[in-house]
Amino acid sequence: MKNLILEAQNLRVDFSEKTVLNDLNFDLEKGSFLSIVGENGVGKTTFIKVLLDEIKPSSGKVNFLPDRKQVKIGYVPQFRNIDDEYPLSIKDFIALNFNERKLPWLSIKERKTLNHVLKQTKLEKIKNEPLGKASGGEKQRVYLAQALVMQPNLLILDESTASLDPASKEDLLNLIKELNREENLTIIFVTHDIQLAKNYADKYLFLKSDGYEQGQISKLKEQEFWEDDAHV
Ligand SMILES: Nc1ncnc2c1ncn2[C@@H]1O[C@H](COP(=O)(O)OP(=O)(O)OP(=O)(O)O)[C@@H](O)[C@H]1O
Ligand SMILES: [Mg+2]
Repeated sequence: MKNLILEAQNLRVDFSEKTVLNDLNFDLEKGSFLSIVGENGVGKTTFIKVLLDEIKPSSGKVNFLPDRKQVKIGYVPQFRNIDDEYPLSIKDFIALNFNERKLPWLSIKERKTLNHVLKQTKLEKIKNEPLGKASGGEKQRVYLAQALVMQPNLLILDESTASLDPASKEDLLNLIKELNREENLTIIFVTHDIQLAKNYADKYLFLKSDGYEQGQISKLKEQEFWEDDAHV
């Protein structure tokens, strides 16, 4: 029997102008590394927002297993609004994500988790610097760190590598793959970089304007992806 973390059943999302997800049936096994691909506007972020309960499906549903309470989602969104003058230090920004903060300062346990995550994401040396001054690659690691401090068992990254140079992309993906392998963290990674998906993911969900495809990443044909893109 499959050990699932979530399943989507007959999922459909209608916006006033168009239907973006139509009768999507999909399941995800614990510990998998899924890449969601597809052209702009096809519904990748919408699907993520349904998982986060930020968008209600028009019909169908998502089930988390064994139940919603036991699936902790860490989310790195597609867009962030951090300008050069952003005042918080890297470590204070990461600490914003400790949920259920009761105290204005960090508990011993929270401090331990924060230090562990700073080490994992290789941010120890620059933890006291202002986030606004960090490079694009460093910022992405900070956003990942912020998602990790809540100790998720499902990590969702929406286009987190889009603005990175090839070496920084590999660095970030290596780190995510390590978390996937060593901590059995389930990963959902949205990307337009099909080669990156092939190098790191084990499953794919290919959303299209007229349907979807899913399977083992080795079966995803690069050519087909670009052919579909060319229709736009
Ligand atoms: N709240 C909303 N109300 C109306 N339309 C919306 C809403 N959210 C998304 N859409 C539309 O739904 C479609 C899918 O958007 P979505 O952001 O899911 O695409 P995407 O696959 O993530 O694209 P990209 O690759 O550009 O990030 C788009 O046409 C978008 O304009
Ligand atoms: Mg998107």
